[in-house]
Amino acid sequence: MTLIRSVITGCGGYLPETVLTNDDLAKIVDTTDEWIVERTGIRERRIAAEGELTSDLGTAAAEQALERAETDARDIDLIVLATSTPDNTFPATAVTIQANLGIQHGAAFDLQAVCSGFVFALATADNFLKSGQYKRALVIGAETYSRILDWEDRGTCVLFGDGAGALVLEARKLNGAGLERGILASELRSDGRYKDKLFVDGGPSSTGTVGHLRMHGRDVFRHAVTNIADVITETLANTDYTADDIDWFVPHQANKRILDGTARKIGLDPDKIVMTVENHANTSAASIPLALNTALEDGRLKENQLVLMEAMGGGFTWGAVLARW
Ligand code: UT7
Repeated sequence: MTLIRSVITGCGGYLPETVLTNDDLAKIVDTTDEWIVERTGIRERRIAAEGELTSDLGTAAAEQALERAETDARDIDLIVLATSTPDNTFPATAVTIQANLGIQHGAAFDLQAVCSGFVFALATADNFLKSGQYKRALVIGAETYSRILDWEDRGTCVLFGDGAGALVLEARKLNGAGLERGILASELRSDGRYKDKLFVDGGPSSTGTVGHLRMHGRDVFRHAVTNIADVITETLANTDYTADDIDWFVPHQANKRILDGTARKIGLDPDKIVMTVENHANTSAASIPLALNTALEDGRLKENQLVLMEAMGGGFTWGAVLARW
């Protein structure tokens, strides 16, 4: 049997122009820069312009990833978009991105796992590629959370931002020589008993409205470090690697305290954490590819390095992916 691995050949990101600082927010709700920085590590976030859609953000990130992969959009036969802020209830925002990129074949669909969306999308695309069904995939995380925030709720509106990131994956046959690049292992989890801890209070079937994000932050926080550490341990156990082997830990960027706590729990050197929460805030499904893009652009992330990604979000959903870059 020929073994196929999904190799990451390109990475891109896009952030809207408008920067919203903590001081800007203090003019809208009863909060302070001090509180936000101390509790979350966030200093600023980007906000999409009026008329700028999730598909626009996702398309820009995908174009950059394709350029860096030196891949023609027409060679892509699978697009998986992780988002919980689609342009419309349907069609899938992925098909708008597909059309924007001039692709008329293959499959494009949205995947909904809230903040864990990118990890779920990456694992999904990886399995399609490994099965031999598709050859080249775009895996995108794109969000416009500013559209579903309650701007009067200081407990949530200070935490999120808009943005998009993308990876190009290519199915390559393993040749058995040395350390081979690509996705090495993934683990995904969900537990619907916690669906009311982080949710949007509207939707087509329930209220007929879009709704606003609601969160029991302390409960989410309480589960985060344990769930994430467990799924990382299970992912590493599928391989011969340990936490010591990891070059870069690229987590979902929700809260600096959660990231520091997770690194401590799995025994990872804090210098190996790629942290973007300070400037991006929580961009949900976009946060991991945006963090990858940041580490790539500032020269930290290099070919053949071992990268551990993880996320936890509404549902609850959580998961981890280990890849050799
Ligand atoms: O990506 C999906 C996953 N999401 C997460 O991982 C988020 C997880 N949760 C968290 O990151 C934290 O729970 C928060 C950052 C959301 C909140 O931090 P906390 O330390 O858990 O604070 P808290 O909710 O317990 O609130 C403490 C106090 C409260 O006041 P009282 O009741 O003690 O008087 C809040 O009303 O802080 C108050 N507070 C604020 N004060 C100033 C809440 N939000 C704010 C605010 N500014 N923006």
